[in-house]
Amino acid sequence: MLKIAVLVCVCVGLMHGYPGFLKEIPNGEAVPNPCTEDPEDKWNLVGHMYASRIEFMRARRQNPDRYVNVFGEMFFSNGQNWTAICDLDADNDGKTNGVELGDPECVWERGTIPAGPATGHPGICEIETQECLSKASDICPTTTTP
Ligand SMILES: *[C@@H]1O[C@H](CO)[C@@H](O)[C@H](O)[C@H]1NC(C)=O
Repeated sequence: MLKIAVLVCVCVGLMHGYPGFLKEIPNGEAVPNPCTEDPEDKWNLVGHMYASRIEFMRARRQNPDRYVNVFGEMFFSNGQNWTAICDLDADNDGKTNGVELGDPECVWERGTIPAGPATGHPGICEIETQECLSKASDICPTTTTP
């Protein structure tokens, strides 16, 4: 019984993840996971190296690190200002952050509906190009597979 109570607490805690940050970017809660075959699978922690909060928490327990990916670094170093990073390309895959998150014109404002859906992950190269390999570090990290 106690185990169930603890589980419920953990799960409720997990659902209240980083909702604040995810609302500061367009489609923050609907970024596709480029590292799975399932088109419905989302990358729930877009600024982090782990797609799922459970994986993230597990990694952080073992080694207390931030596990921020290239997009997260860019977001934080620009004061969490979407407008400032929209036209940049964090993962060097040739598509700007705005294009990948459904705001190609960089006109999105917090609380409004983006121009379109997110089409890619702004911190992970969907396709291994030479630019990705030379600059961006994240190409579907193996750590996301359990
Ligand atoms: C965000 O960045 C844009 C573009 O650089 C700038 O015009 C705007 O003032 C910034 N907003 C805040 C709150 O700093």
